[in-house]
Amino acid sequence: MKVAVVMGGPSAEREVSIQSGTGVMRALAALGHDARSLDFDGRFVEAIREIAPDVVFNALHGPGGEDGTIQGILEWMGIPFTGSGIAACAVAMDKHLTKKLLAAEGLPTPAWDVFDLTGGTLPLLPGSLNLPLVVKPRASGSSAGVVIVKSHEAWSKAVLAASTRTPEVLAEEFVPGREFSCGVLGEEALPVVEIVPSDEFYSYDAKYKPGGSRHLIPAPIDHDLTSRLQTLALSVHRLLGLRDYSRTDFIVTKEGRPTILEINALPGMTPTSLLPEEALSAGISYEALVERLVQHALA
Ligand code: DAL
Ligand code: MG
Repeated sequence: MKVAVVMGGPSAEREVSIQSGTGVMRALAALGHDARSLDFDGRFVEAIREIAPDVVFNALHGPGGEDGTIQGILEWMGIPFTGSGIAACAVAMDKHLTKKLLAAEGLPTPAWDVFDLTGGTLPLLPGSLNLPLVVKPRASGSSAGVVIVKSHEAWSKAVLAASTRTPEVLAEEFVPGREFSCGVLGEEALPVVEIVPSDEFYSYDAKYKPGGSRHLIPAPIDHDLTSRLQTLALSVHRLLGLRDYSRTDFIVTKEGRPTILEINALPGMTPTSLLPEEALSAGISYEALVERLVQHALA
């Protein structure tokens, strides 16, 4: 089968996407497929027409690749692609919309507010939220631009930094606790992983630098909490209308209360990424995972 692997793209997660795409290319070659890689740039439509693939493996992350843009182009061209469709990606990439949906369904997510810096005016520290706050771009990934704000003084700098990535910035209450993640593959939840970051939180460096964090899999938690996190991951997957795979990240407080941090429509597929490790722990090798995603796209 001829598979075009799209990687790179315009987002802050370009390097991460290249690592995901390189892993996917290697797996496709090992599986005996004819794999061709290409970037998501101004030549994309022309390049994809030249390749004329049976299916596109989308190894992009972040805006452009994970927000409905490329999904719209491929729908329009009539080419099957891995992962979720336009609407689900658009919502999952937008942290404000995602949290509104979660809240409307009564699913737990930290208290938050959103600020528009388009006009250049710096917002005041919101009185309705308690410090510390986690400031992040409204639409980004891999923790790019994410800062924990512990004081009034740190607020403006963090908001300004986040707004260089998207003009709208989200601030949510920092929830102390242990960090977990749970992927969904097909219609089933994968084993839960606990993340022990070397940094103050699971930052960009903690995610991708070798030795940047430890992943405990399956997570050393009791059966009840495991199944609660798996049920939440499946609920979120269905609520957002995600297809074939996704990954939901959580904090669990010391009282054992889970809260949803975010949802990834295109989970990382790099050597240090969580979903491939979760799949492996369920007996699904990286190659088998890639093959399943291709087959789901064609189904
Ligand atoms: N956004 C990255 C790739 C992830 O969360 O897996
Ligand atoms: Mg993410």
